[in-house]
Amino acid sequence: MEGLFFCYPGRGQAEAEEADVALLAQHENVEIMLQRIVKGANFWLDPAEDLETLEYFFVHTGEIVMRLEDRTEVLRAGDSFYALGLKKQVFCSATEETQLLYVANRRVFSDVMGFQQELMDMLRRINEKDHYTYQHSLSVMRLSKALYLELGAQETGISMEEIIMASLFHDVGKCQVPDEILKKPGRLTPQEYAAIQRHPVESAAILRGRFGAPVAEVAQNHHERLDGTGYPRRLTAQEISLPARIVAVADCFDAMTTDRGYNRVKSYEEAAQELYDLEAQFDRRATEALIRLVRSGAIGPSRA
Ligand SMILES: [Fe+2]
Ligand SMILES: [Fe+2]
Repeated sequence: MEGLFFCYPGRGQAEAEEADVALLAQHENVEIMLQRIVKGANFWLDPAEDLETLEYFFVHTGEIVMRLEDRTEVLRAGDSFYALGLKKQVFCSATEETQLLYVANRRVFSDVMGFQQELMDMLRRINEKDHYTYQHSLSVMRLSKALYLELGAQETGISMEEIIMASLFHDVGKCQVPDEILKKPGRLTPQEYAAIQRHPVESAAILRGRFGAPVAEVAQNHHERLDGTGYPRRLTAQEISLPARIVAVADCFDAMTTDRGYNRVKSYEEAAQELYDLEAQFDRRATEALIRLVRSGAIGPSRA
C-alpha cells in the first residue's frame, strides 16, 4: 500500500555481538532505530551538541542500568526515557539481552552510528581473510576497558568512549593490507612484513576524522614499545600515551592467550606475568593492573 513501510530488522541477521543498531525509518532529520545490546555490554549517552536534539529511548525487551551521579536507575521493558540538553556523558549497561527503540530528531545513525557500523563491517571483512581479527578486536576492547577502569579516567586522561573506540578499532587498518599478505600462511618477506606494519597508521587515518586525535594516537601506537623496539615509528616511552600502552598490553595479552594456530597458548597468569616481566617494553601500571585483574578473576576465560 502506498505510504506504508515495513521493517524486519531481526530477520535473517546473526545475533548482535555487542551493540547493533538498525535504522528502521528516516525522514528529513528524524531517525527511528532499533538498538540491540548483548547482556553485559556497556553503552553511553553523549552530551547534547545542541539544545534542539531530542533522543527518546523505549525499552522494548531486556533491562538496562544507568549510572547517574547520585543514583543508579534501572529501566525494564515498557519503560522509556529521553535526553534533551544532556550536560554529561551517562554510562549504561545491559543486564540482559536488550532491545531499545531509539528515536532522534537529528541524524544520529547517519552521522555517528552508521560510521561505527561501517567499521564493524570492516572488521568482519578482515576476519574473512584473517580469522583472528574480529574476536581479537572485541577481546582487546574488553581488556582495555577493564584496565582503564582499574587505572581510572584521571590517570589515563582519556574518556571511556575514546578508549573503547580506539581499542575496538585498533586493527581496522588491516583492511588496507593486500589479501594475499594477510592470508599468507608461511613466512613473510621483509616487504610483506612492512605492509603489515603499516596497519596502525592506516587505523589512525580511518579513526582520526570521526573520533579525534587521542583515539587516532592510541590506534597508531598500539605496537610501539617503551624501549623503542616497536613499530611503525619506533617511539620511546615519553612519546607513547598511557591509553596506547594499555591497548598494547591488552593486544599482546589476547594474542598470547588465544589459539592462532601456530602459537603455544599461555594461561592468563603466565601471560600477565610475562608482560609484567617485560618492564622495558610494557607499562608497569598497565601490567600491574592486569595481574590484579587476572588474580581477582575479573579477567577470566569469558573475558567479561
Ligand atoms: Fe595491530
Ligand atoms: Fe591487535
